[in-house]
Amino acid sequence: MRYRTIGDGDQAVEVSTLCLGTMLMGTRTDEETSLAILDRFVEAGGTFVDTANNYNAWGEGHGRDSEDLLGRWLASRGVRDQVRVATKLGAGKKDPTLPLSNTPPTNFEGLSAEVVDREAHESLRHLGVDRIDVLYGHVDDLGTPLAETVAAFGKLQAEGVVGLAGISNVALWRLVEAREEALRQGVAPYALVQQNLTYAYPTPDPGRHNWASPELLDYAASTGADGRPSLTVVAYSPLLQGAYVRPDKPLFAGFDHPTTHARIRTLHEVAAELGATPHQVVLAWLLGGDVPVVPIVGASSVEQLDELLDAADLDLPDELRARLDAV
Ligand SMILES: NC(=O)c1ccc[n+]([C@@H]2O[C@H](COP(=O)([O-])OP(=O)(O)OC[C@H]3O[C@@H](n4cnc5c(N)ncnc54)[C@H](OP(=O)(O)O)[C@@H]3O)[C@@H](O)[C@H]2O)c1
Repeated sequence: MRYRTIGDGDQAVEVSTLCLGTMLMGTRTDEETSLAILDRFVEAGGTFVDTANNYNAWGEGHGRDSEDLLGRWLASRGVRDQVRVATKLGAGKKDPTLPLSNTPPTNFEGLSAEVVDREAHESLRHLGVDRIDVLYGHVDDLGTPLAETVAAFGKLQAEGVVGLAGISNVALWRLVEAREEALRQGVAPYALVQQNLTYAYPTPDPGRHNWASPELLDYAASTGADGRPSLTVVAYSPLLQGAYVRPDKPLFAGFDHPTTHARIRTLHEVAAELGATPHQVVLAWLLGGDVPVVPIVGASSVEQLDELLDAADLDLPDELRARLDAV
């Protein structure tokens, strides 16, 4: 396993370059399997886990299933000091009697000061911790003044119950504006941005703000120097939920286009030449790019995780990376 520093100054922490996603733990992935995956991740040197206050309210769960499971795991294994826990708020149900949706009406709770304060304290309780290492806004909220959201995250950091703040599913201009607003208010700006990113890319869609665009990666690369607080890019759904290798997993959300099919062909060729798996090559491509990102991998068995863990130490030769990039 390799490690990197996220955040700056007193708030800087070291995390494993692979983050483990726990979205389905405690619902689709049963308790015993989930605990075994978490144990294996830590055994292999993993120190960064990702959850949210709404995992998994889309499917079978009530919304705090994953946080509750993580809380039980942290307490029973005594690994709290070893592991950095990230959670998210803002996409929980505003009206608990209605479903969540990614399209309006979403029923998202949003990022008002009241929601941020209430939901962060609920996460502390469900996780059984006295500090959340990374707290993200799960989805940007254009209906709340940016200054209010920024101040709410700053207040939790000042109280010591949150380490680093982050934002997910956000337009670049909003991310930049929020970080500048934080500096105006004298609070720590978002240190992480969590977006969808993988080797294939979705068809351009002007209304899509959940993709880590090349522009966003350029912006992240420009931070961390000359007094500009650093920004770490975190990539969700890096494996296209298995679609690179599994016929049972369809390409979703705009990924089913000719370039994706060409990229998948090249990915398989490169993997065969390297003696690695396509998943490992995708993760190595993300980890070792010009702007290194932190992939959050999902796994629903220890065997799946074991394949992914081997990517942490894999370096792509320049020639193979160039071939992948050229498609
Ligand atoms: N910020 C956000 O809005 C957002 C959105 C989505 C996810 N996330 C975070 O990102 C994490 C990962 O998301 P994701 O689950 O969409 O990511 P993913 O890593 O692209 O997909 C994970 C799925 O891929 C399949 N898979 C993984 N390893 C495999 C292997 N070795 N062989 C075959 N299939 C394999 C499994 O599918 P099966 O279980 O079906 O076998 C697994 O559940 C989540 O847990 C969550 O923490 C955040």
